[in-house]
Amino acid sequence: MNDSMLIFNLRPARCKARAVATMEALSLLRDLHVVAAAGGPLSEQRGVFWITAPVAALETINARLPRLGYTYAVDLLELEVGDLRSAGRVQKSQEELVRWQSKLYRLVRVYEEDAELMREGAPDRRTFLLRTNEGEVRSIQGYRGDGQPLSRRGLPVYDARMLVNLVAAGEGTLLLDPFAGTGGIVIEALASGCSVTSADFDPALQEGLSHLGAKHYVADARCLPFADGMFDAIATEPPYHEQAKSTVIGALHEMERVLKEGGRLAILCAATQVDDLRQEAICLGLKSYLDAPINRKGLDVAVLAWQKEA
Ligand SMILES: C[S@@+](CC[C@H](N)C(=O)[O-])C[C@H]1O[C@@H](n2cnc3c(N)ncnc32)[C@H](O)[C@@H]1O
Repeated sequence: MNDSMLIFNLRPARCKARAVATMEALSLLRDLHVVAAAGGPLSEQRGVFWITAPVAALETINARLPRLGYTYAVDLLELEVGDLRSAGRVQKSQEELVRWQSKLYRLVRVYEEDAELMREGAPDRRTFLLRTNEGEVRSIQGYRGDGQPLSRRGLPVYDARMLVNLVAAGEGTLLLDPFAGTGGIVIEALASGCSVTSADFDPALQEGLSHLGAKHYVADARCLPFADGMFDAIATEPPYHEQAKSTVIGALHEMERVLKEGGRLAILCAATQVDDLRQEAICLGLKSYLDAPINRKGLDVAVLAWQKEA
């Protein structure tokens, strides 16, 4: 057998977003000949999906798994030879046995998220340099926007990672976030080894976003100061408010312009913006590879992802 099966466990907060989690993992591992399997062990449980991968790629895959956002643990399926009880073997605590298609397998945990590390990176724990109305720059812990409809900020780490994984193509990817806010996506893209450019039209965020390590511009996403085809990838979260609909559509045109051919673009948007974005993307000739709803604690959003055809 040259292929192994991996079982991905979704984080409880996103256990309904299986299509998104699967596409996230396939995108992160897309150069490694991985394939999503239609079924596998534990299918009676909610929140698992399966990917088969060449055995030779497992080491590289394991090294990338900690970058995942919507998956918190991954198990490798290993065929167990013989009857365990009659052989008198003892099951090790970290290995679970499962029966699937009349065979016995061991589940070997190859990755489990460090929950404390994840919590430490949460928007509530981070500090952000914010310029006040008086022009002073202050370090603020847990800054999540000023409550205005167009500036709700502080995307959870796992949503930001998911967006980056959908579009990035490994270290050195030139990635843009044109609605950067407090930099949730910027931070995760930098951690993935991308070369990141951020933009936001709010000058109060300038010092904070520059401080994160991206190249930052105070700019309107509908009129970006970049050349055509400059970026390999774009991941972003525009404002969700009804008022922002025309801004988001205008920005889609600009994002398509600055994205290179073959590049990928992912947007986390309000459910109410989806129809207009879908239509506009068709007009722009973008090829959809993900269009799925996500429930963020009662807030209906969706992730849309496209590739700009070469
Ligand atoms: C939902 S927030 C982004 C939050 C971000 N993902 C984070 O982790 O903090 C949307 C951001 O878009 C910015 N924005 C709104 N309209 C804009 C426009 N026309 N051009 C650029 N930025 C804009 C707002 O200032 C806000 O920071």
